[in-house]
Amino acid sequence: MTSTVPAVTAPVTAPPTALGTARTRVEGREKITGAARYTGDIPLTSLAHGSLVLSTIARGRIRAVDDAAVRAMPGVVAVLHHLNAPRVRGDYPSIMGMAPDPTVRAFQDDRVPHWGWPVALVVAETPEQARAGADALVVAYEAEPHDTDFSGERTDAFALDGVVPATLAKGDEEAELAASAVVVDASYTTPEEHHNPMEPHAATAYWQDGRLEVLDSNQGASWTAEDLAKAFELEPGTVRVRSEHVGGGFGSKSVRVHQIAAVMAATELQRPVRVAMTRRQMFSLAGYRSPTDQRVRLGADPDGRLRVLSHGSVSQTSSVYAFVEPAAAAGRVLYDAAAHRTSAQVVSLDVPTPTSMRAPGMAPGSFALESALDELAERCGLDPIELRLRNEPSAGPLSGLPFAGRNLRACFEEGARRFGWADRDPRPRVRRDGRWLLGTGTAAATFHAFAVPSTAAVTAWADGTFTVRIAAADIGTGARTALQIVAADALRVAPERVQVRIGDSEFGPAWLAGGSAGTSSWAWAITPAAGELRERLALGVDIPADGLTVRSDSTTALAGQEPAERHSYGAQFAEVAVDPGTGEVRVRRMLGMFAAGRIVNPLTARNQLVGGMVWGISMALHEEAVRDVRSGSLVGADLAGYHVASHADVAHIEADWVDDPMPGDPIGIKGVGEIGVVGAAAAIANAVRHATGVRHRRLPIRPDRVL
Ligand code: MOS
Repeated sequence: MTSTVPAVTAPVTAPPTALGTARTRVEGREKITGAARYTGDIPLTSLAHGSLVLSTIARGRIRAVDDAAVRAMPGVVAVLHHLNAPRVRGDYPSIMGMAPDPTVRAFQDDRVPHWGWPVALVVAETPEQARAGADALVVAYEAEPHDTDFSGERTDAFALDGVVPATLAKGDEEAELAASAVVVDASYTTPEEHHNPMEPHAATAYWQDGRLEVLDSNQGASWTAEDLAKAFELEPGTVRVRSEHVGGGFGSKSVRVHQIAAVMAATELQRPVRVAMTRRQMFSLAGYRSPTDQRVRLGADPDGRLRVLSHGSVSQTSSVYAFVEPAAAAGRVLYDAAAHRTSAQVVSLDVPTPTSMRAPGMAPGSFALESALDELAERCGLDPIELRLRNEPSAGPLSGLPFAGRNLRACFEEGARRFGWADRDPRPRVRRDGRWLLGTGTAAATFHAFAVPSTAAVTAWADGTFTVRIAAADIGTGARTALQIVAADALRVAPERVQVRIGDSEFGPAWLAGGSAGTSSWAWAITPAAGELRERLALGVDIPADGLTVRSDSTTALAGQEPAERHSYGAQFAEVAVDPGTGEVRVRRMLGMFAAGRIVNPLTARNQLVGGMVWGISMALHEEAVRDVRSGSLVGADLAGYHVASHADVAHIEADWVDDPMPGDPIGIKGVGEIGVVGAAAAIANAVRHATGVRHRRLPIRPDRVL
C-alpha cells in the first residue's frame, strides 16, 4: 500500500520555522515521570550483576586473589581477575586516533598502576550479593613506592602533543619582554577536578543470536561498539550498542572498564551481566581533569598592546596513559603578540588516568590567561574590556588563517551594556554592602567549533510522519530535540511530525556528544538526507509501506570546507560579595554573552550555557579533589567530600548570545556544550580581586584562602 504525504506538497521554498524557537525536550515528560529508562533500569531475564573490586595500593603487584570464600557466598556466580579473565586488546586506536582508556586492559596482568585500579569483578544474582562479595574479596598486594605528588616545578615534566600540538611559538620572547613597558609574570594553579554525571557509568552485556548486545550509558554508541569490537577482536558488525537515555557525560562516558567487565562476564557465563560503577569508583575509573600549574608572561606597551604572550602549562597523567590537558591553547585564538608562545607539558605519576572534562584545556587555561590579562589591565591603568579589545587579532595569531565568524567584540559590548559595566569604579575594595565587599570582574571565553563526518538516515512514512536515525547521543543536553528541529526545517514540516531515534550503533557511524561538536556534526548528516527526501517527495513519489529512506554521509561535504579558525566566543561577567570576616565568597550575579553560532533551540542552549557557568562557580569556589600523597588515594572521593555548586550558590545567572552564524555550516551551528564554563572562573576571581584587593592565582578560592 502506498500513499503520498499531503504536507510535503507545500512549496519547497517555504522558510524554516522551527530553528531558533524554544522547544521543550521531546523526552521531557518521559524523564520527569520516570518512564525514561537509563541503562541500569532496563530489566532483563536472568540478569546477573557485577561489582568491581579496586586496588587499595597506589603501585605494585597483586600477590594473590583469595576468591574461594567469595565464590561460596550466597548468589555469587563468578569472580574474574587477572588469573582467569578473558584476554582483551588495549592497543587499538580509539576516538580521534587516541589510545583507549587503560582500564580496558583490566584483569590482564598483576600490575597495579594506581589507587583505584580494577583488580577483580564479583558477579552474583543480585547487586547486593555482588557488592557483598566484592567487599569480602581479599586481594593481597606487593606494594611498591609510589609518586603521586603533582607540581609544575618538577624537573621530569615533558612536552606532549594531545589533540593539539604541545608547543606553538613565534617571535623572540626575551627580546620583546625586555622592550615591554609593562610585564606580568605569574603562576596559576588549578586542582584535580572530577566529572560526576548524575547517572553513574553502567553497562549491560549479553549475547543474542551470535551477536554481542550492549546497553550502555555513553556519549556515542557507534564509537563504543567499534571500540568493543576491537578490544574483543570481534567482527565490527557483530557488536551492537544502545544508549537511549544518558544522564550526563562531560567527556567521561567512553569505553572504560565497566563495559569490558560486563562483556567478559557475559561471555564467560553466557547470560546477561550488568556492571555499574559506584559513585566512589567513578573517582578513579571515570577520568578527571588533571590539576594544572601554569605560568603566564605578558609584556605590553603602555597602551596595553601585547608584545609578549607566553603561556606554559604543566598537567599530570598516569604511568599507563599519555593524556595532556592543553591548558595553554586559549591564547592561540584570543590574542596576538609579536612573541607568542604556548606550550603543554605533563608529569607522569602513579595516579588514575585523567581525561577530557568539559572544555578540556580551555576551562583551566582561561583561568590563568584571563586572570593575567586582568592583572595587566590594572598595571596599564586600562579597563579590562578595553585591554582585550585593543588586542583583538585580525587573523589566527599563529595560523594566519581568517576567523570564521569572530564576534568577541560584540559579546563584550552587549555584555557590558547589560551588566552595567560602564558604572564600574575600577579601584579595588571601594564598594560595600554592609559587611560585604563587592566587586565585579570579566573574562573572555573561546572554544573550538568543528564538525566530524557522520551518517544519518531519514525515512518518510505513508502517514505523513518522518523518522530520523542517527547514532547521536543525548547526554541530557536536549540533543534529540535539537535534531528534531534541524530535520523538520530541512523537511519543511512541523517538528511534531519528526521522530528522532538516536543512541544505537545500528544507525551507522556518527560523531559523539563531545567537543561541542555533536549538533553541528549530526546536522551536517541529517540536513542533506532530509533535503533530498523532501525533493523526492515534492516530485510526488509514492511511499512504500516500509517507508522511503534517504541516507547520507557527510564525509565528502566536510572535506570540502575552507581552512579557517573556527571557534565560539564569549564574554563572562561576575559580581561577587566577599565577607572579610569569614572569607565567604558569594557570586551575586553572572552574565555570559556568547557568540556560539546559530542557536537551534534557545531553551536547551541556554540550559547548556548556564550549566557551564555554574561549573565556573564550582571551579572558582568549590571543586578540589585532594590526593593524599602517602596513600595515593583521594580524600573524600564522594559527593559529600567533593563540593560542587548547588542551587544556594547560584543567585542570578543569565546567558544570552549575539547573532553569529557559522560561515560554511549548512545551518550556521557552532556549538554550546563547553563554552559556558570557559572564562567563568576567571571572571569570578577577577571580581574577588576587585572586591578585596587580593589576587587569587590558586583555585578554588576557599574561605581560608580569601584574605
Ligand atoms: Mo566533552 S569534554 O568533549 O565530552
